[in-house]
Amino acid sequence: MPTRKQLPNYTVPSLTPAQGAEVAGILQQRLNSLNDLALTLKHVHWNVVGPHFIAVHEMIDPQVDAVRLMVDALAERIATLGLAPRGTPGVIVAERTWDDYALGRASTIAHLGALDEVYQGVILSHRKAAADTEELDLVSNDLLIGHLHELELFHWFIRAHLESSGGDLSTAGATSEQSAADQAGKADS
Ligand SMILES: [Fe+2]
Repeated sequence: MPTRKQLPNYTVPSLTPAQGAEVAGILQQRLNSLNDLALTLKHVHWNVVGPHFIAVHEMIDPQVDAVRLMVDALAERIATLGLAPRGTPGVIVAERTWDDYALGRASTIAHLGALDEVYQGVILSHRKAAADTEELDLVSNDLLIGHLHELELFHWFIRAHLESSGGDLSTAGATSEQSAADQAGKADS
């Protein structure tokens, strides 16, 4: 987790400038991740084809709206901590630790399989950020946990399409978006 070298001139009461900078560094990574997620979800909204098109196309937009609100709250928390949130596309590309979304035009089930992987990665990192801020800054920790309530619900919406009546996920054991998409597609055919 990269930490910021720049110290704020002020931060929230009870944190030192160094602590404010550390929390802001953690939140900047989450800002990059959720900015990427909002863009990726819109890309999926535009590129799903085949059976269940309208259901999946319309399921995605409320997720985009919710993630954009999370992005705004993260950026404003970084500013509240005394540092400048960085929200340009160049920052996302320069600082992200994951690959660009793997699928273009593809079936609804393939995109849902890939999105299962996407949400898994985002949620794991968000949970780690929540754990890392628990001692440092309860308010940032609360913000991240609030996001997780929604992100984990959205992940379930995705997974419910990939689940058998016996409760098994078609994407189980997948290691990439493409392999999750392939497994989901096979299970559906
Ligand atoms: Fe649209």
